[in-house]
Amino acid sequence: MASAHLLTFVHMSDTHFHLNPDYTEPFSVYGPRLSTEKLIETINALPMPIDFVLHTGDVVHLPETGESYTGARALLDTIRHPVLYVPGNHDNVAMFQHNFMGVPLDQITPTYDRVLTINNVQVVLLDSHAPADSSDAYGYLTDAQLEWMDGICSMPDARPLVVALHHHTLPLEAPWLDTMVLLNGDALHNILLKARSRIRGVFYGHIHESVATVRDGIAYYSAQSTWFQTRTWYGAEQPVSDPLINPGFNLVTLTERDTFVRFVRIPL
Ligand SMILES: [Fe+2]
Ligand SMILES: [Fe+2]
Repeated sequence: MASAHLLTFVHMSDTHFHLNPDYTEPFSVYGPRLSTEKLIETINALPMPIDFVLHTGDVVHLPETGESYTGARALLDTIRHPVLYVPGNHDNVAMFQHNFMGVPLDQITPTYDRVLTINNVQVVLLDSHAPADSSDAYGYLTDAQLEWMDGICSMPDARPLVVALHHHTLPLEAPWLDTMVLLNGDALHNILLKARSRIRGVFYGHIHESVATVRDGIAYYSAQSTWFQTRTWYGAEQPVSDPLINPGFNLVTLTERDTFVRFVRIPL
């Protein structure tokens, strides 16, 4: 028997918006804007109802002024669905809040965390950016954030739970990538175990590749970047560029019973 539909969302990530549309890096053969525009066109043409789009961070590549975020906002506002955001390690969390999310300057908080309910599904947006004095790419959750998550996961609650953050919570066992992991990911995982019966997935970006990891019955899914892609594997010492450069996103559907994650790549 079919299981009742709860929610469908698009998971996209790592737009790395740059004011220079032709900006490139060694791994990229085109600027981040072109591929993001194509991806948005594809999302906007999806034939099924979409409840929201989830963007798991690295919204902007090198934010020096608020103008980067104004530009990113103009581009991402062409998405015809509501969009939920978490910041990534490339984001400046103050500018992200003020210039992108419209938070008044006197209400900016050290981390940007949110919990909301959509179609009776609880959605947690967790800010995993490392302390501001660090230029490293790893992620970190403060004690206050872990306590907040613990409160959510310990509460008796029957609603399905979706968690989103930028970094990989668990190492991917690829040494080059695991210097950029969420440093206290084990602490987060142990908290999530308290909500194991209702958690439908932890959705993240950062690694520019789509990977699914399951530990202790909790599934972690990453989305590809809308810009350049990497490819990794168990034990990989060095980053490798994915020769199939096409960007992608994940299409996630929750029913009363199941969670479906479809990995979509788009033509350029
Ligand atoms: Fe990124
Ligand atoms: Fe990142």
